[in-house]
Amino acid sequence: MFVSDNLTVNEKGNLAIAGQDTVELAKKYGTPLYVMDEQLVRKHCRSFKNSIDKFYGGNGLVCYASKAFCCKEMCRIVTSEKCGLDVVSAGELYTAIKAGADCENICFHGNNKTDEELRFAVENNVGRIIVDNISELSRLNAIAEANGVTARIMFRIKPGIDAHTHNFVKTGQIDSKFGFALETGEAFEAVKIALSHKNIMLRGLHCHIGSQIFDIAPFEAAAEVMLKFIAKIKNELGFEVKELNLGGGFGIKYLNEHDPVPYETYMEKVSVKVHQSCKELGITLPFILIEPGRSIAGPAGITLYTVGARKEIPNIRTYVSIDGGMGDNPRYALYKSEYEAIVANKASQERDEKVTIAGKCCESGDLIGEGMKLQHAEAGDIIAVCATGAYNYSMSSNYNRIPKPAVVFVNEGKSSVAVKRETYEDIVRNDI
Ligand code: LLP
Repeated sequence: MFVSDNLTVNEKGNLAIAGQDTVELAKKYGTPLYVMDEQLVRKHCRSFKNSIDKFYGGNGLVCYASKAFCCKEMCRIVTSEKCGLDVVSAGELYTAIKAGADCENICFHGNNKTDEELRFAVENNVGRIIVDNISELSRLNAIAEANGVTARIMFRIKPGIDAHTHNFVKTGQIDSKFGFALETGEAFEAVKIALSHKNIMLRGLHCHIGSQIFDIAPFEAAAEVMLKFIAKIKNELGFEVKELNLGGGFGIKYLNEHDPVPYETYMEKVSVKVHQSCKELGITLPFILIEPGRSIAGPAGITLYTVGARKEIPNIRTYVSIDGGMGDNPRYALYKSEYEAIVANKASQERDEKVTIAGKCCESGDLIGEGMKLQHAEAGDIIAVCATGAYNYSMSSNYNRIPKPAVVFVNEGKSSVAVKRETYEDIVRNDI
């Protein structure tokens, strides 16, 4: 009935998440409120981990892409599921460390890491620094040398696959700020340089072809391109790359018409391609890493809001205004991303209106969605926006000096705050 399986309607006719009444949660913690279902996060982690066990004989690692949703509690949960973490800034790395994550299982990304960030990663002995460009490689070598250590790296490669089109495109050259190009020889040169650097150890290669992808074919194609490159390195340089990181990007269900492929199916199909290519190319099966973000956090979250104003503009549209908006969910404003919404206290009723849900920022584009099917919403109602677990809290801002909402985890009949609601004092904390 709803986009996420953990959402139901209870005997009061209210929306429940993991069996907990969302109207009660809104009452207890206030709105806007991010609610995360811990068991669903764990279930997704396990499904990826089990796939690595099943299809690669356990010879791999799931690194949750924390950019999707990062706070200490989330890092603790995924770590307890034996997943590593993908971080993309010293801030995310710091959060992971503070949560007790093992740096050995951290992949540190970024197309423009600062020296300070590289030093922080080296000092904490991060297991895999994903080097994006030549300048970074030489800066990292110098930092590792100054610290008397060897930095363990992977190279970010552009496999030349654009998955964001209806039929995915394989191009020689993709226009991307991330990583080394294959077709120009840039990536091959980088490998040669890495092998000559004393304080660098090349552990593997990495690619990430995009996000919210429903097709399996581009993932298979990317794996094949990467394995061919590993074979070329082996044949021409006599060095066998031992690890392959295939990134994240698996699509999730935001709307009922979305029909994502089960993650196990992605994993199985890609593994068949990986095994087959290794055989054909005469290379050893590498250790496989994957970096799902959205698919672990997204479906587990909802956001609860309270309705304030309702404006019916005859023959134009009806605005339902909520106490949050682009500050806590900028994805419609940025990408026109669509969501399912439900009036939580009228969840058993028909969604027989089409409305625009508007936020409270001083900006016309501050919308959660247009033409959204919804029950008749009035002031005081609670609206739940579904599948907001990824790229909502992590992309939130204090625009208009609106404090960020709290994050609450629900788990086995209990709820607890994982991130406190910001206060006005927090808003002026760094002001002099
Ligand atoms: N690995 C790398 C290197 C990435 O760049 C990303 C996402 C991931 C893994 C995780 O991808 P996922 O499994 O979450 O699709 N803000 C955008 C999404 C940006 C994704 C950036 N990179 C959004 O709200 O849709």
